[in-house]
Amino acid sequence: MKKILIFGGTGQVGTHLIRMLTKNNYKVSVVTRNIHQKGHKIKIMGNAGFIDLIEVKIFDEEKIRNLFKDADICINLIGILFEKRGGNSFKNIHSVFPSLLAKLCKEYKLSKFIHLSALGIDKAIDSNYAKSKLEGEKKILEYFPLTTILRPSIIYSSSDNFTCNFMTLLNRLPIFPLYYSGQTKFMPIHCSDLTDIIFSIISRNIDTKIIECVGPETMTFKEILQKLLSLIDKKRILLPFPLLMANISAKLFELFPKPLLTQDQLRLLKYDNIISGKYKTNFDIGLPSKKYFENEVKKYCFMWRENGQFSTEKYNIKDSN
Ligand SMILES: NC(=O)c1ccc[n+]([C@@H]2O[C@H](COP(=O)([O-])OP(=O)(O)OC[C@H]3O[C@@H](n4cnc5c(N)ncnc54)[C@H](OP(=O)(O)O)[C@@H]3O)[C@@H](O)[C@H]2O)c1
Repeated sequence: MKKILIFGGTGQVGTHLIRMLTKNNYKVSVVTRNIHQKGHKIKIMGNAGFIDLIEVKIFDEEKIRNLFKDADICINLIGILFEKRGGNSFKNIHSVFPSLLAKLCKEYKLSKFIHLSALGIDKAIDSNYAKSKLEGEKKILEYFPLTTILRPSIIYSSSDNFTCNFMTLLNRLPIFPLYYSGQTKFMPIHCSDLTDIIFSIISRNIDTKIIECVGPETMTFKEILQKLLSLIDKKRILLPFPLLMANISAKLFELFPKPLLTQDQLRLLKYDNIISGKYKTNFDIGLPSKKYFENEVKKYCFMWRENGQFSTEKYNIKDSN
C-alpha cells in the first residue's frame, strides 16, 4: 500500500482526490493549516485508517521533514489567487514552498512528486501569479526530476470558487462587467477529470514532466457567462468594461480581505488560457477529459434557479458520459 503525502488536500481538488485515492486503497496523509476548520470534512472522505490529518505550518521544516520519512509520493495542491500579509506571498507559496518539498522528495527518496501549477503561465509575463508559478516549476524540476507538473485550465465542480461564485454574482447583479470584452479563451476541466489524471499518473507511473490539463471545449469568458445565465435561467446585461475602470475597481476590491478581482488577476485575464502546443496535454497521453461544461454545471446549478431545489430542471439532467 503506497503512502501519499498531500499538501493543500482540503481544497477543491484535494477533496475529490482523497476520495479517489482512499477508495483505491492508497493511504493518505493530508496536511492542513487548521485541523479544526477542515478536519471534519476530510475525515469522512475514506475508510478508517486510510486518512491521517496533520496540522502543520507550511514553513515548519522540522515537522514537514518528519512527514516525508514514511511517504512514497508527495502531491502539492497549495495555491493562492491573491497575496496576503504574513508570508502569504506568491513567491513563498508558489516557489519557495514547492522547492522545499522537491528538495525533501529527493532527500527522502520518494518515487514521485506531483505539483499543480497553472495553464498559460509562460505567456502571462506581467502577472506576478504566473511568474511565481513558473519560477516554482523551474526550481522543482531542477531539484527533483521525478516530478510531474500539471498545468490545468480553470477547474470547476460543485465545490469550486468559479462557477459557484459567478452564479451567485449573476443572480444578484443586473449588469455584469466583461473584461477584455469577454474574449479571453478558457478550456475548463471538471475536477473529477483532473483527479482521474492525477490518479493515472500514480497508478500507471506516467513520467511526463509537464502536462497541460484541459477539458474538451474551448470557450470565451463571455460564452461561459452566457452558459451560466442560461443554466440558472436569468437574463443579465453583459457589459464590456473599459480597462481603466476595471483597474480602478480591482484596486478597490483589493481593500477587502477576499477580493473579487485584483489588478494581477486582471493582467492574467488578458491572456488566453488554452493549450500552448509546446507541452503534452492530458489528451496526448491517453487521458481525455470526458465531462462537458454545461452538462456538469446543470447537475448543481439548480440552487441558483428560481425555486431552488424545487426547480423542475433539477430532475432533467442528461448524463455526459
Ligand atoms: N481552481 C482552479 O481553477 C485552478 C486553476 C489552475 C490551477 N490551479 C491550482 O491547482 C491547485 C489546487 O487548486 P484548488 O482549486 O484545489 O485550490 P483551493 O481549493 O484553493 O485549495 C488549496 C488548499 O491550499 C491550502 N492553502 C491555501 N492558501 C494557503 C496558504 N497561504 N498557505 C498554506 N496553505 C494554503 C488550503 O488548505 P488548508 O486551508 O487546509 O491549509 C487549501 O485547501 C492550486 O495550486 C491552484 O493554484 C487551480
